[in-house]
Amino acid sequence: MTKATNITWHDATISKEERRAQNGHGSVVLWFTGLSGSGKSTIANAVSHELFRQGINEYVLDGDNVRHGLNKDLGFSESDRNENIRRIGEVAKLFVDSGKIVTTAFISPFRSDRDGVRALFEEGEFVEVFIDCPLEECERRDPKQLYVKARRGEIKDFTGIDSPYEAPDYPEITVRSDQFSVEEAVEQILSYLREKNIL
Ligand code: ADX
Repeated sequence: MTKATNITWHDATISKEERRAQNGHGSVVLWFTGLSGSGKSTIANAVSHELFRQGINEYVLDGDNVRHGLNKDLGFSESDRNENIRRIGEVAKLFVDSGKIVTTAFISPFRSDRDGVRALFEEGEFVEVFIDCPLEECERRDPKQLYVKARRGEIKDFTGIDSPYEAPDYPEITVRSDQFSVEEAVEQILSYLREKNIL
């Protein structure tokens, strides 16, 4: 539901197709999803570096960063996570419209939230990338020492501990980040983009 009344939608004078043509590549969202510590940010930034090196227009939206600004009013309750993902979905749509490849790195634990974002996009524009890493391995890595705090009860509603993570049923790409290196993950994602003629 739109709250504001008396607003009209202005069609952009320059179309998404024109922007893509000028860039010389397609525009999609690489929607990463996975547990905290699974490697989302690391792999997203490595993909970003490689695309940038190749002269591709790209950008990364990262959970920990976006939560310092745009979404600093949101916590980790289910409804706050719903809103977090909804806003990022809308921002990602603007990036795709601007002709960029945008990578988002958010846990996005709820299937219905991710499907809601998918529904904003045209066929083929939403590429769900499951960064699949067993909880035990994420907990062993614990780069931010958050699992240890969650286990002690110092952080509530922590994904994988006392808040659920719903893995995607049909992700476009699954990266087993406990079995492959960051470089291999980047190559897997880039070869998908080449296969689909996005690059
Ligand atoms: S999401 O669930 O709403 O998609 P998001 O990706 O934005 O989460 O933020 C997750 C990051 O916030 C984690 O990587 C971690 O650093 C931090 N964090 C702090 N509290 C929690 C919590 N209760 N559950 C999960 N992550 C948390």
